[in-house]
Order: sequence, then structure tokens, then C-alpha cells
Amino acid sequence: MATSLHSSTSTSRVGFSSQFTGSNLASKSSVSVSFPSSLTNLTFKSVETSRQQSSKICAMSKAESGSFEQLNVDISLSPRVNSVKPSKTVAITDHATALAQAGVPVIRLAAGEPDFDTPAVIAEAGINAIREGHTRYSPNAGTLELRTAICNKLKDENGLSYKPDQILVSNGAKQSIIQAVLAVCSPGDEVIIPAPFWVSYPEMARLADAKPVILPTLISDNFLLDPKLLESKITEKSRLLILCSPANPTGSVYPKELLERIAEIVAKHPRLLVLSDEIYEHIIYAPATHTSFASLPGMYERTLTVNGFSKAFAMTGWRLGYIAGPKHFVAACNKIQSQFTSGASTISQKAGVAALGLGYAGGEAVATMVKAFRERRDFLVRSFGELEGVKISEPQGAFYLFIDFSSYYGVEAEGFGKIENSESLCRYFLDKAQVALVPGDAFGDDTCIRISYAASLTTLQAAFERIKKALVSLRPAVPA
Ligand SMILES: Cc1ncc(COP(=O)(O)O)c(C=O)c1O
Repeated sequence: MATSLHSSTSTSRVGFSSQFTGSNLASKSSVSVSFPSSLTNLTFKSVETSRQQSSKICAMSKAESGSFEQLNVDISLSPRVNSVKPSKTVAITDHATALAQAGVPVIRLAAGEPDFDTPAVIAEAGINAIREGHTRYSPNAGTLELRTAICNKLKDENGLSYKPDQILVSNGAKQSIIQAVLAVCSPGDEVIIPAPFWVSYPEMARLADAKPVILPTLISDNFLLDPKLLESKITEKSRLLILCSPANPTGSVYPKELLERIAEIVAKHPRLLVLSDEIYEHIIYAPATHTSFASLPGMYERTLTVNGFSKAFAMTGWRLGYIAGPKHFVAACNKIQSQFTSGASTISQKAGVAALGLGYAGGEAVATMVKAFRERRDFLVRSFGELEGVKISEPQGAFYLFIDFSSYYGVEAEGFGKIENSESLCRYFLDKAQVALVPGDAFGDDTCIRISYAASLTTLQAAFERIKKALVSLRPAVPA
């Protein structure tokens, strides 16, 4: 018996726009979008589920006679799932990939993953792990070998002293973060998140029945959190402050002095913990330097440090990250993981040991990648800086440029319609320039668009030329 799902309202053909808007389509179940030129014959079947609306969808089953009969199946989802927005970066990346596979020459600058291969020494260690039979379950917290290597790394590079039982290895830093949020937040607690933020932080807070409290930052302050704003927003419900440096999507790096001021404020609030996401630690451009928040006076006892292998070591597919912190909190994360995924892949953990064995800050292999990222950053900052109506804060780390294009909002583009916001401008760029970027509203700042420069310089040059050409036919609505 073949079973398929149908929306009780009409399920129409959905293209790029609906993928972008995600939960913004709260009142609609699906949308039909028309596409100009070569994009027209690319369609995706999509059933949009609103956040509030329970799905009035029924299962249809094909009876032996060949006719369809309706089954009474309640396919409603938990309020927890309905409160969460799907990741726009993943949706856009998938969409751009689908376009590319269909032959549209899209330049994809939406993904948050290095374009480099995992360094050979690390890959070899993974292959050897299989050959040598390291293919059984790992201890839940991670192998002692890897946790010891992580302790050594944290001591040497970050000035942090941990024992292996203060480290929990997970299937990527993403898992480390959600487990920490689940472990420390009670329903109704507030999670303070500076914006622009990594797309998953607010959704993770929601998954824990906590409330994301978003604190905006300014491009003129290099998107760094204003300590006074932080101080004014802390309440007795504030449980967790999430800091990310170097940051996704802005590339901002928090200077030590600013972190010290934040630490002084945090220290006044015994309930407030800090999750310091340091996954881009090694992708940093001198003279900027990285400071681990837990190393600041009084912060060790209240900081959960998250790091991983995906970015610096180009190991996104190996799924390996970790958290370090006070034993009590790490044990709680460990408990969640034990009923959730168990330990991370033993093969990846062997590769992780090899990665940490590459030397200080990843040694030559990482330095070579960082050098390439820096050249690309310099090219993009220089090039976009010369365009009319564009504002930039020069990133000091990571591999993203978060550009303010808001002076183009309100412009009527011929054959396209009005550029209303970051989302429609991204759609315009995909349509006119065939470059895939991520709208800033996914990161909590609609004035900007994120460009990932995890692509070769030649690709970035081509993308820039296309974007420039697409912008020429627009004139900023307001002078920048
Ligand atoms: C800021 C930030 N934190 C955490 C992660 C998760 O990394 P992973 O789960 O691949 O280790 C990402 C990935 O995009 C990120 O950008």
C-alpha cells in the first residue's frame, strides 16, 4: 500500500521565494512563485507548516483498487517543533545546490563551511582508525585520548585548566550548544543573544522552552555588544548569555577589554552563565587575537566553552565538537547525550586527535587556510567598499562578510519588483546575478546580507562582478 501526504489546502509548486520565507508564511500553507528566465522550470513541492496553525493535513493511501482513500491520522506536531524556525542557511544552501544540479550556473556563497579538504594527516588518521578496528562504541563523553588532547589544547592555547571529566565530546559543536542550553535553562528562562547571531541560537533557546532575548548591535560598533545595553537587559530570569567570537555572520572579534567589561557585568548576577562559542577561534586575522571568556577573572565557574573541528580543520562532515566547563554542568550535558546520541564517532575522534596534534593553533595546515581566507576577505572588503550605497565592517575573523545594503531597500527593480528587504534583495541577486547569499534577517539583522567567502578567489571575483552589475541597474533609495 503506497502512502503519500497531501495538504488539505492546495499544494502548489513552490520555488525560491517560499524556501526563503520559511515561517514568515505563517498564514499560508503553500505559495506559488513565478520565476523569470531560466529559473522557471525549477520547482519544488513543499508543504509549509505554520507556527501556530495545526496542520489540517490528512494521509492518503492508495487502495488495491487503485483509488485513493482518506486515512484518519493525526499528523499534528508538538508545539515545541512548531515554535522553531527551519534554518534558512540550510534551506538556501540546499536550494542553490538544487539549481546548480539542474544546470543553472549559480555561484554559491551561502554555506558556512570551508571549501578546503580536510588536511591529509587528519584524513589518514581516520582511515587508519578504521583499519585498526576503532569501530566500536565510544565512551559517552568521548575517548580519554581525545579528551586529554583537548585538555592540553585548552591549557596551551587558551590558558584554561580542565580535567578530562570536564570535557564532553559530541557530534559537532551544534550538539554541544543545544545540550548546554537544555541542561541549564528552565522553562521561561531568558537566553541573551547579541544580534546578528548564528541562526541556531534563538531556536535552541525555544527548543528548551526558554525565551531568546535579542540585543541588537551596530555596524558602526563592528557589531559588538554594548555592555550598557547588556546591563540594562539582565533580569532575574536571565540564565544564559551566548557570545560568539570570532562571530558568524559578522566576522567580528571581541577584544579582551570588551570581554572584561562584559565579565564584570556578568559577575554581578549569580544566575547568569555564559556560553562562549569559540568555533572560529583559529580563523582570525592578526592583529586581532582570541580571548577565551572562561579565562577572565571570575568567569571559569560560570562559562561553558564550546569549540569544534568543523571550521578550522575543514572537518564539517566528520561531526566533531566539544564543550568544556565546570564538572557539574558538563555532567548534565553528558547525561542528556547518553540518552540522545551516545558518544561521537570513534573514527572522527581519532581524526580529532590528529588535528590537535598538528601543532599550536593547527600549525601550518591551518595557517595556510587562514592565509587564503585573509586574501579573500581583503579582496571583498576592498571591492564592496568601492560600491555606492554599501556599508561594511571589516571582519577580523571567520569567513563571512556581513554587508549593509539597506540603502537599496525601497528601490523598484525593472522586471523584478520592489526590493523590500534583505530577503528580496537576495532573491534579486539570485535571479539577476545568479549568486546565492543569505539574507540578514535570518541572523536577526535585516539591513545586511551575508557573503560566505569559503570559495576560491576566482569564484569570488566572478561573484563580485555579477553582483556589481546587478546593482548598477538599482540606485540606492537613500544615500548611504
Ligand atoms: C557559530 C557557530 N557555532 C557552531 C556551529 C556548529 O558547528 P558544527 O556543528 O559543525 O561543529 C556553527 C556552524 O555553522 C557556527 O557557525
